[in-house]
Amino acid sequence: LCLLGFGNVNRTLVRLLQEKTSELQEREIGWRITGIASRSLGWIAHAEGLDHSALLEGKVSVGSTSAPPQNVREWLRAAQADVLFEATSLSVRDGQPAIDHIRAALESGAHAITANKGPIVHAYAELSALADSKGARFLFESTVMDGAPIFSMFRDSLPAVHLRGFRGILNSTTNVILSGMEDGLSFDESLKKAQEVGVAETDPTHDIEGWDAAVKVAALVTVLMEEKIALDAIQREGIRELSGEAVRAARSSGNPYKLVCRAQRDENGIHASVRPEQVPLSDPLAWITGTSNIVCFETDMFPGLAITEINPGLDATAYGMLADFIRTVSN
Ligand SMILES: NC(=O)c1ccc[n+]([C@@H]2O[C@H](COP(=O)([O-])OP(=O)(O)OC[C@H]3O[C@@H](n4cnc5c(N)ncnc54)[C@H](OP(=O)(O)O)[C@@H]3O)[C@@H](O)[C@H]2O)c1
Repeated sequence: LCLLGFGNVNRTLVRLLQEKTSELQEREIGWRITGIASRSLGWIAHAEGLDHSALLEGKVSVGSTSAPPQNVREWLRAAQADVLFEATSLSVRDGQPAIDHIRAALESGAHAITANKGPIVHAYAELSALADSKGARFLFESTVMDGAPIFSMFRDSLPAVHLRGFRGILNSTTNVILSGMEDGLSFDESLKKAQEVGVAETDPTHDIEGWDAAVKVAALVTVLMEEKIALDAIQREGIRELSGEAVRAARSSGNPYKLVCRAQRDENGIHASVRPEQVPLSDPLAWITGTSNIVCFETDMFPGLAITEINPGLDATAYGMLADFIRTVSN
């Protein structure tokens, strides 16, 4: 296994691989980590296997080769990669360099599993076709709603179903901020609190302006509605303009504000948006508070099929990658 990016997600994945070793053994899946890389670590390869406990303690040895790999292709070769787990930071505008890294893995014959939305939004068709041509898998369950089974549900459990549209709450940071404002805080106070508890990033612009949610909408539309959609084609409005008074008045009136993600297909194509909307308390979206997420799908067979994820953590995200790994090597 090769890990590209060694931050929150891939570290948690290593811990989960250790914890689930017996479940993997029951499925006759053995594993060893032979490559790890990031901008600060460089390209580290050790085909005999790196000590994963040491990796989690931050003890990263430089690998076995006298001439360390200088780029992703050399790294994959030196590590004899069978599976790449790509979990580097999202580049909203072009999905790079993650796309190049996944392309290199697939071209080498390895499977590629990513938690990064960029490659889905910008290169899904190309990377899927490449995987098919190489007899490899390209899977990405953790890109939307952490590890909740969305893409695999459609792929494996809903054959011949047509997705007409969906609505959901897909960004935790804005939902936490809105919950805080309902509890009496101003926008700035609620944002600060979300940063203090580690929900909001130091630079929360992407979340607050609706970019993160828009990227998730684009990923769902691209894969599940089978239509590539440009990010600029998604109507996008963030929550920065909402005042605490407006948010509290909306909740008191029984129509709380939520940052609602939508996509709908009609005779003119797909219309998609991310914007604050007031939803009635009878709507399941109104029940979603804090870091929880929901998506409600409208299909030709199920008028409403909802997946709700209550208080997801990093384990859920890493589990999505682990589940993709098991699917990949079991088939
Ligand atoms: N955290 C979550 O709950 C969550 C949930 C779902 C999906 N995701 C997605 O999963 C991915 C990883 O998230 P994370 O929370 O693990 O992020 P993180 O903690 O910030 O870690 C990112 C890792 O990627 C490396 N990296 C960044 N840019 C790189 C580049 N150009 N080349 C090589 N390495 C690079 C970073 O190391 P260097 O700085 O040393 O390069 C770091 O090791 C992101 O795309 C995120 O959107 C995260």
